[in-house]
Amino acid sequence: MPKTTISVIKADVGSYPGHSRTHPKLLEKAQKLLKEQEGKLLIDSFVTHCGDDLELIMTHTHGVDNKAVHKLAWDVFMECTKIAKSLKLYGAGQDMLADAFSGNIKGLGPGVAEMEFEERGSDPVLIFMADKTGPGAWNFFLYKIFADPFNTPGLVIDPGMHDGFIFEVYDVLEKRKIQFRTPEETYTLLSCIGACSRYVVKHVWRKDGVIAASTSTEKLNLIAGRYVGKDDPVMIVRAQSGLPSAGEVVEPFCTPIIVAGWMRGSHHGPLMPVAVCDANCTRFDGPPRVICLGFQISNGELVGPADMFDDPAFDRVRSRCNELADFVRDQGPFEPHRLSLGEMEYTTLPGIEKKFGKRWENISE
Ligand code: F6R
Ligand code: MG
Ligand code: MG
Repeated sequence: MPKTTISVIKADVGSYPGHSRTHPKLLEKAQKLLKEQEGKLLIDSFVTHCGDDLELIMTHTHGVDNKAVHKLAWDVFMECTKIAKSLKLYGAGQDMLADAFSGNIKGLGPGVAEMEFEERGSDPVLIFMADKTGPGAWNFFLYKIFADPFNTPGLVIDPGMHDGFIFEVYDVLEKRKIQFRTPEETYTLLSCIGACSRYVVKHVWRKDGVIAASTSTEKLNLIAGRYVGKDDPVMIVRAQSGLPSAGEVVEPFCTPIIVAGWMRGSHHGPLMPVAVCDANCTRFDGPPRVICLGFQISNGELVGPADMFDDPAFDRVRSRCNELADFVRDQGPFEPHRLSLGEMEYTTLPGIEKKFGKRWENISE
């Protein structure tokens, strides 16, 4: 049996109204185009959306960074852009930063998370998709899932993962990467990934080399050189049998953490776990939200999905997120609701600064 690859590729190619949600016609078109490739390039596929992001979930046997698979995703986004333009949807084609496909979709605008693995006897996979935040949003959850025994008792009591995990971290500004081993380098890992705007966990492996998690790390503004919205990220996590259980994987989402993104990609706000039916951004263009679809992978087939946050067990965190949203919203345009100046450089603020920049005078004393 060849290895199975899961490719989750996403882009915002237009939404309604404003940046709220993806139009059903885009979802239909994308699913149709992927279905046509099942039994050819792909084994299986599933299309969904989180807020204004169109999410393509694909399985195949061609490994990560496969040109044909990336080209397929690119073509799907291009076709959906055509529909978005015909409906005058908002931000039609917004994440398609290049004029043409050039071998790998990374760096062209869309976000990509992929992993290739040998299927176990039974292989549960959870796919997380977020809107109105950036890739660093996963850092907290990946730490909790794979390195915090208060979240994941399996780290303490399952011999299969007692040795811990390896975290690969990308420095998205300097374009370099590093690996940290847990539990022995936990404090060093945290010293790095606590700075979510710059350091982003890309992969997690068990120490015997089994791939456990993979995320998208694309930063649109760094690619485009200007503000083009946030880089709403995706993440793939494998579960069970010597990896954290499905329940341990979703447990940290019961904590309402504050992430960067939300309105104009310029505000801190709570990341709310929601069912797919609630994956529509409204209040203040948000609040930031995350969905999770669970599948069993069976010879590449996507058995599922289960809508993991469609559960009253997450009602309390949702309500706490709403309270936090009220709390930070009261601060209006003031930090720390508004992002710090360093992060605001990647928004539309520099355009305003230009307007009054020449009026500054030196203070003589
Ligand atoms: C956040 C986002 C929105 C827009 C906002 C203004 O990622 O996409 O909050 O930034 O709706 O959009 P424009 O400037 O296009 O009117
Ligand atoms: Mg949008
Ligand atoms: Mg989005």
